[in-house]
This record gives sequence, structure tokens and C-alpha cells, in this order.
Amino acid sequence: MKTQVLPVDEQSIQQAAELLRAGELVALPTETVYGIAADARNGEAVRKIFEAKGRPQDNPLIVHIADMEMLQGIVSQVPERARKLAAAYWPGPLTMVLPKGSEVSEVTCAGLDTVGVRMPSHPVVQQVIRASGVAFAAPSANLSGKPSPTNAQDTLTDMDGRLPLILDGGECSVGVESTVVTLVGEHPMLLRPGYITKEQLETALGEEVLVSAAILEKLKEGEVARSPGMKYKHYAPKAQITILKGSLARYQAFVQEHAAPGVWGLCFDGERQILPIPCIEYGKEGDGAAQARRLFTALRELDKQGAQVVYARCPASDGVSMAVYNRLIRAAAFRVVVL
Ligand code: TXA
Ligand code: MG
Repeated sequence: MKTQVLPVDEQSIQQAAELLRAGELVALPTETVYGIAADARNGEAVRKIFEAKGRPQDNPLIVHIADMEMLQGIVSQVPERARKLAAAYWPGPLTMVLPKGSEVSEVTCAGLDTVGVRMPSHPVVQQVIRASGVAFAAPSANLSGKPSPTNAQDTLTDMDGRLPLILDGGECSVGVESTVVTLVGEHPMLLRPGYITKEQLETALGEEVLVSAAILEKLKEGEVARSPGMKYKHYAPKAQITILKGSLARYQAFVQEHAAPGVWGLCFDGERQILPIPCIEYGKEGDGAAQARRLFTALRELDKQGAQVVYARCPASDGVSMAVYNRLIRAAAFRVVVL
């Protein structure tokens, strides 16, 4: 299959809408990362997403909507908590897990009786949904296991020949996938951290939000993942990454000792010049939002440079940084060394 990459204009939006209505795939930008869209009600169409990504069949997809009316048939109930969060953070990088509506294909939800829904703020998503009338399922547009793409070029690298159209809407502003919170249990629980923080959810809800154990640690043997996506190896470049927790001075001493061909650093802005190994920078120290924006392109850049062993500076793990730490620790297969 030939994959077209088109700039966003009226014509390409129409083309995307027609493809979606015909049960085909379209890759497109959202404010978080690029996604691969297919009609969430059409099981045959959604199956093509799993095929294109090489994604395990038991990992459910998020349904994307453009307004509150579109929730009809997608979810079976809109609890009060969902109304509060929607009022505060939709459209935006927040996914809510709710009771599944009858119209969503079982393939989309991987057989679960719940569905993840989000209303993205990106204008291209809004335009494509309006033009097609289609609520679409969309995972990140990477090959399963790779870092999520945050631009059209990285999307093409993974998806060339696997789908007909990529809409090029430039770099994504957030850079990591949406926050996922489940509202089906007794207490709201954060399943995946993102740009909307636990504290922001708590402010809008007026109650505590639990944090799923799998976010910051490895699942224990036999433990069940509440969000199936969290059990897979993720965001991994080819290099073996180790996170080094400690001051810049200790990091500097450690990498000095371990310098060798193929050894790279993943460091904060402005640190590259003083380090004795080649480094890619991924945002300012302490600035979770800047790190989130840079992380996935930095991981892909390490691959392009042929890095084999990577030592990463450790981000914080609260606020927006929780999202950065959560992705990096998976990319590092949970290898953390305290200096
Ligand atoms: O920002 C995003 O959310 C991007 C863009 C494209 O919108 N999409 C995205 O989708 O990250 P994906 O498929 O890469 O990640 C979806 C995550 C997975 O961890 C999945 O297990 C979880 O959401 N999820 C989806 N539906 C769920 C459900 N019903 N219950 C629990 N977890 C669910
Ligand atoms: Mg993904």
C-alpha cells in the first residue's frame, strides 16, 4: 500500500473523512501524539489498526469524540464525576474510562465492558470528526513497543506502507499520551499519567484520586493490569537504557567511567557541553512539560544515532513529570541505578 503524507487543508480533511467512513485507517496529529484512526463502531476497520501496529489484541483503544453529544452510544452512562472532569479538561489530553455503550465495537474495547473516551483539543481531530461524523478509535501511531510519534515524519517511519494517509499537522504540543483515569470503580483511579496531573483531577473532582501501582513500578508476577497497556514493554528504542538517579556531578562521574563507543547520554538542557559522552537533551531539569514535549523524539534520535547503551538523567516523578518518569522507566525496562 502506498502511504500519502498530506499537509492539512480542506481537501486532505475531506479525504481523511472519506477514508474513515469507508472503514479505512488515517494517521493524524492530536495535541498529545500522532494517532491511527478508524471508525470505533466498525470492528473490521478497527482490526486494521491492530494489524498495522502489530498490537496485542487484548489492549483496548481510546475512542475520540468532538462534543458531549457524541457520547451517546459510545458510553452507557455519564456519571457526575465524568461531567466534572469534562467541564474542567475537555477538550484536552484526558481520557476517562466509562461503562461501554452498545454502539462501540467489541474489537475497540478488546472485549472489556468499559471504554476509554477522550475529546482532543487539536483542531485537525475536531475537523476530521466533524467532516466524517465518525467517532474514531485511535492508539498512538507507533509500531507496538516503539516510542509514540510526535510528528508526521516519525509516523511515516513506523507506518509507511501500512495505511493510506498521514495528515501532517506539525509537532504535537504535549508530546506524551493523554492522562487515563478510570471512573468505573468506587474511587477514581489514575491508570496512566499525562499532562493533566493527579492534583488537577483532584481539584476538579473534589476528592482523592488513587494511583494505580503499575504507573511507577513494575507489575509483580501474576498481578493483573487495570489498564492492559501497562503490562507491555513500551517506548523502547533499540539501545539498552539505564536511568541514573542522583546529582549531575555523580552522573558526570559515572558516565566518565563508563564512556565507550556506542555509549550515549540522555540529559537535561544545557548539560551536553560538560559531559564526556555524546548526549541528547530532553528538556530543562525540573520542567516536566518541556521534558514531555521532547522525550519521545529524543528516544527516537538515540536510535538514529546508533546508540547501544544509554544512561539517562532521572526526571522527577510528581506533577507532569510523573508522565515523563512513567514512560522513561518503561523505555529503560525498569533499570534504575541510584548513584
Ligand atoms: O493521547 C492519547 O491517548 C493517544 C492519542 C492518539 O489520542 N492515544 C493513545 O492510545 O495513547 P494508546 O492505544 O496508545 O493507549 C491507550 C491506553 C492503553 O494503555 C490502554 O490499555 C488504555 O489506554 N485503555 C484504553 N481503554 C481502556 C479501558 N477500557 N480500560 C482500561 N484501560 C484502557
Ligand atoms: Mg500507545
